[in-house]
Amino acid sequence: MINLSVNLNKVALLRNSRNFGIPSVIKAASTCIQAGAHGITVHPRPDERHIKSKDVYELAEMLTVEFNIEGNPSSQFLNIIREVKPTQCTLVPDAPDAFTSDHGWDLATNGFWLKPIIQELKELGIRVSLFLDTDLTQIELAKEIGADRIELYTEPYATAFRKDDVESVFQKYQQAAKKAQEIGLGVNAGHDLNLQNLEKFCSIPNILEVSIGHALVADALDIGLFNAVKEYLKILSTN
Ligand code: PXP
Repeated sequence: MINLSVNLNKVALLRNSRNFGIPSVIKAASTCIQAGAHGITVHPRPDERHIKSKDVYELAEMLTVEFNIEGNPSSQFLNIIREVKPTQCTLVPDAPDAFTSDHGWDLATNGFWLKPIIQELKELGIRVSLFLDTDLTQIELAKEIGADRIELYTEPYATAFRKDDVESVFQKYQQAAKKAQEIGLGVNAGHDLNLQNLEKFCSIPNILEVSIGHALVADALDIGLFNAVKEYLKILSTN
């Protein structure tokens, strides 16, 4: 079974378009947990346009499943991580004004300053994952600087799947996951995964976790959040 961590950013985005707290991020987390989700993911950005730091602390108080906090390790972000001590911290190289995360780390350039951060987070008992493209050299560097896991950025896979021209791109993900596993890194994945493209992606052996937000919340508009989580879990349970 591959774990599902539901990304609640889009629930917060909708909540932030009014000032009276609906839909509730906490209620959404609770529904996801009741439906069987293995984790909750949030990506607090500096402008707080979706998840706010207050949400992160409130979720930390109530969660009974794994908490994955994603983000670029600015001092503001790291202060939250030090206080909340989530199960997992996924470090992402997104600029403060990024529309959404759109590439993995270049560790040849950034590895030297990420390494002590990774070490500190691991000493706090936090599992550290690095958001990466399918570049095999980057995967080796992730191991060298101490990451526990990588999260493969799956937007290129999702786009190729949509265009019905996925095989060569999919092979890159297979090779990247294999390489990571061979050198002792756990493999997570996320971005633009959905009910159509998830099954094929999950045929890659030993993926540990997928984090899914946008498509799952969109599906929830049709079938409800509880049922949407169940539909994703159904696919993940076959692997
Ligand atoms: N992983 C990372 C690092 C992300 O930034 C996001 C989007 O916030 C996701 C996974 C989830 O992507 P999606 O919302 O497209 O499912």
